[in-house]
Amino acid sequence: MREKLEQIKKEALDAVKNVSLEAELDALRVKYLGKKGEITAILKQMGSLSAEERPVIGQLANGVRENIEKAISEKVKVIAEKALEARLESEKIDVTIPGTPINVGHKHPMSIVLDEAKDIFVGMGFSIAEGPEVELTKYDFDMMNIPEGHTVREWQDTFYITEDERVHLRCQTSPVQARVMESQKPPIRIISPGRVYRKDEVDATHSPMFHQIEGLVVDKGITMADLKGTLNAFFEKLYGEGTKTRFRPHHFPFTEPSCEVDVQCFMCGGTGCRTCKGEGWIELLGAGMVHPKVLAVCGIDPDVYSGFAFGMGLERLTMLRFGIDDMRLIFENDVRFLNQF
Ligand code: DAH
Repeated sequence: MREKLEQIKKEALDAVKNVSLEAELDALRVKYLGKKGEITAILKQMGSLSAEERPVIGQLANGVRENIEKAISEKVKVIAEKALEARLESEKIDVTIPGTPINVGHKHPMSIVLDEAKDIFVGMGFSIAEGPEVELTKYDFDMMNIPEGHTVREWQDTFYITEDERVHLRCQTSPVQARVMESQKPPIRIISPGRVYRKDEVDATHSPMFHQIEGLVVDKGITMADLKGTLNAFFEKLYGEGTKTRFRPHHFPFTEPSCEVDVQCFMCGGTGCRTCKGEGWIELLGAGMVHPKVLAVCGIDPDVYSGFAFGMGLERLTMLRFGIDDMRLIFENDVRFLNQF
């Protein structure tokens, strides 16, 4: 029995030395120290021993058990330490490795120009007004002195929402003028950027949806000189000092007198090229002195107040600012195009 215990001890200690997993160690604990384990089996046979031998073997068996228990608990610690080391190694973060770059977008060219335009006008004392894209015919046409029978009121030109032709997608930002004048008293100095809609086919210079920036100034003693001064200052800020403008007589129902404003071609500087179709000038907006009838219908006395207004195409402004020759590029959102700005 003595030899048997020595043998168990040797075997068990060897086995403990060789395992590397906690589960294997548990199995060894059961095998040697468990209720049905090898040491228990020896102790069960003690009855067959003599009275002198019994305590000696008992003591020996307890010693062997303690040895094995100690070896196992030491090994538990070793295994836990190794596991911790492995985890620390695998979770190690090298803070000096450069991060993965995140692709952030940037402003669309139209937003760049719109933000610049807003900054310039706000710097001149304008505030920003908004109006609905789904508009009442009353504001877009009636109050803007566009009478029944005018071509823009035709079904082939306008996106009507209702059969009775009282609601439609606005075809210009000018109705915001009427909305502002109805709710605000002079002095008024606003711009109103936004989307407008027309039944146009898509081509290099047309789109059924595009953007305008409307402007309106109403006060005592406002003249055409204020209009020219304001627009000239705007274009010099946007396109650079020395930018030349040209005011041509024109007709709009809501202004009298009316004009169209051209800016000298950015490509040829005015000598004539493909971009300006040989003209030397590029048309950018319509403008004029607010028609007395429009002031009156909006509740402002035209004998006391006068005003100027303008409406410019944001796509045109952007194309001219960056030398873009096809409007479709602005809407296609091809990143190879957008990345250039
Ligand atoms: N609404 C005009 C258009 O879409 C542009 C325009 C012309 C706006 C003259 C104005 C203006 O405010 O005074 O063609």
